[in-house]
Amino acid sequence: MRIRRQNYHDIERIIEFDFVRATEAAALNSLPWLGRGEKEKADAAACDALRGMFDLMNICGEVVIGEGIKDDAPGIFKGEQLGTWVPGSPPFDIALDPIDGTTNISKGAPNSISCIAAASPEEGVKVALRDIPSFYMMKLAYGPRVLQHMQISGIATIKIESPIEETLLVVAQALNKRVQDVVVTMLDRPRHQEIVAEIRTVGASLRLISDGDIAAAMAPSLTDSGIDLYLGIGGAPEAVLAAAGIKCLGGDMQCVMWPRDEKERKSLIADGHGADLGRVFFADDLANGKNIIFCATGISDSALLRGVKSQGATATTYSILMRAKSRTVRFIRASHDLQNKTIRLRSDNREHRI
Ligand code: FBP
Repeated sequence: MRIRRQNYHDIERIIEFDFVRATEAAALNSLPWLGRGEKEKADAAACDALRGMFDLMNICGEVVIGEGIKDDAPGIFKGEQLGTWVPGSPPFDIALDPIDGTTNISKGAPNSISCIAAASPEEGVKVALRDIPSFYMMKLAYGPRVLQHMQISGIATIKIESPIEETLLVVAQALNKRVQDVVVTMLDRPRHQEIVAEIRTVGASLRLISDGDIAAAMAPSLTDSGIDLYLGIGGAPEAVLAAAGIKCLGGDMQCVMWPRDEKERKSLIADGHGADLGRVFFADDLANGKNIIFCATGISDSALLRGVKSQGATATTYSILMRAKSRTVRFIRASHDLQNKTIRLRSDNREHRI
């Protein structure tokens, strides 16, 4: 009998569910660390499950954006190969954050997710998931309604460098709201003191979060998140992951590299990135092309997803799975029977009960 060759056109459609299994496994495996004050152990558990799941996937995956090197966390870093790498398997560039919001997990606080963006090669796309060399970026993210309003009116355009008052007025107009009803979310950090004061002066409503700005940046692109705008300085890898998700949701994002100090600015310039300092990166610049998958699973509740709900012998996970090409947005509520469910861990290459 003739064996049909695998049709790799639109490979994301074939493989996308495996990615969401990986974030589900990471969320479930890190759950025992919720509230235990051990953020590194939580991160290690998520990484172990992600790697274990990838070990079952016939892909040639290369991590192009791993976890930020902000602490000595046991992360998955740039350059790591994921997947079986069986010859002939489809190649994927992978950006991932096994846990965005590790501190939240350690405190048992809301706002942590596990997420992956992956891109297969595409004609005309040189770099699908752009590895930004700065540690932080200034970010401004808004949803499809604001984007459409800007496209239709052609006048009121949001610019990341504009005064916040102007931005809030455009968002209010686009959403047919009063400015005081516009809800902005931002990381609660001393570096945001001035922006916070400006937002309060204008009178918009503010939701400060302690950590986890991938979910926060994606929230304005979801109709029922209750968030209209994301603003502020957060991790650069997180900006790319959020951009991939926002793109699939039809929103947009503007980001600018934000060197922490003169030393970082100088080193960016010395490394040849001077021309990109001050450049505004839109979602499409950070996550380019259509062959992009984004998925995330909630660990603790966020504006994007509910966290894992554990009820005795069952755990329920809430995930989002999307592709840039089709713009299909799937919310997946999965019920895991803990008597039967096992997760494959890389550490010993075996299946484990949760
Ligand atoms: P981790 O889970 O890696 O700790 O990241 C959490 C986070 O809040 C990100 O969502 C955000 O982009 C970044 O940290 C902000 O960095 P900082 O905590 O240094 O302000």
